[in-house]
Amino acid sequence: MSGELSPIDKAKFVAAKRAADMVEDGMRVGLGTGSTAAWLVRCLGEMVREDGLRFSGVPTSARTAQLAREVGIEVLSLDEARWLDLTIDGADEFDRDLNLIKGGGGALLQEKIVAAASDQMVVIADKAKEVESLGAFPLPIEVVPFGWQTTQALVEETLISMDVMGRTSTLRMSHSSPYIADEGNHVLDLHLVRIGNPRQLALILNQIPGVVDNGLFIDICDTVVIGYGDGRVEVR
Ligand code: 5RP
Repeated sequence: MSGELSPIDKAKFVAAKRAADMVEDGMRVGLGTGSTAAWLVRCLGEMVREDGLRFSGVPTSARTAQLAREVGIEVLSLDEARWLDLTIDGADEFDRDLNLIKGGGGALLQEKIVAAASDQMVVIADKAKEVESLGAFPLPIEVVPFGWQTTQALVEETLISMDVMGRTSTLRMSHSSPYIADEGNHVLDLHLVRIGNPRQLALILNQIPGVVDNGLFIDICDTVVIGYGDGRVEVR
């Protein structure tokens, strides 16, 4: 399946493959979104088809649901599964405390709900996602479309009093129109450069009317599986 891969894809693939081995018969597993999570879904599909692995997957986006069905994974909604043994997902950044920025792929809301419903969250990432402090990657927040410009102004005003270096935000676009996430919301990307206190920022952003949730995952990730371009894997 992995064929001739670029170093970055190899790193994503080996991390996904190692995490796929954590899935056991009978488990209910949250399936993340993004290019690394897509490798995971393909690996798990192969294990279902070739090794007879039996598990149920709860996808975190319509994209992942489609891929999971295509590769032969039994798909459940979160309401059908209710509680999950494990969620495996990618990340845009992780720090030494395993706090994350997620949502680069525009699926942070379902990803956070599914991860919070799981006994364990395992992040799969290439080494380049590891950072000293979160924030170089723009922080996505989901906002309801109604009055989004007012929400954006409130968010930027709030950032003035926070321990961050940048304060601007942009509306995420897709084919010249505002991006619409699976739950019908828009996404604002906050250009913060460095987030001094991610825990505090996560709480404060979610108090702003119009903000549905933000891409800071604090104390949610239990384990990170790091892939390297030469095929090595490290589990922390
Ligand atoms: C999607 C996400 C992804 O997990 C994150 O963007 C990482 O993506 P990739 O594996 O493609 O680098 O949070 O909302």
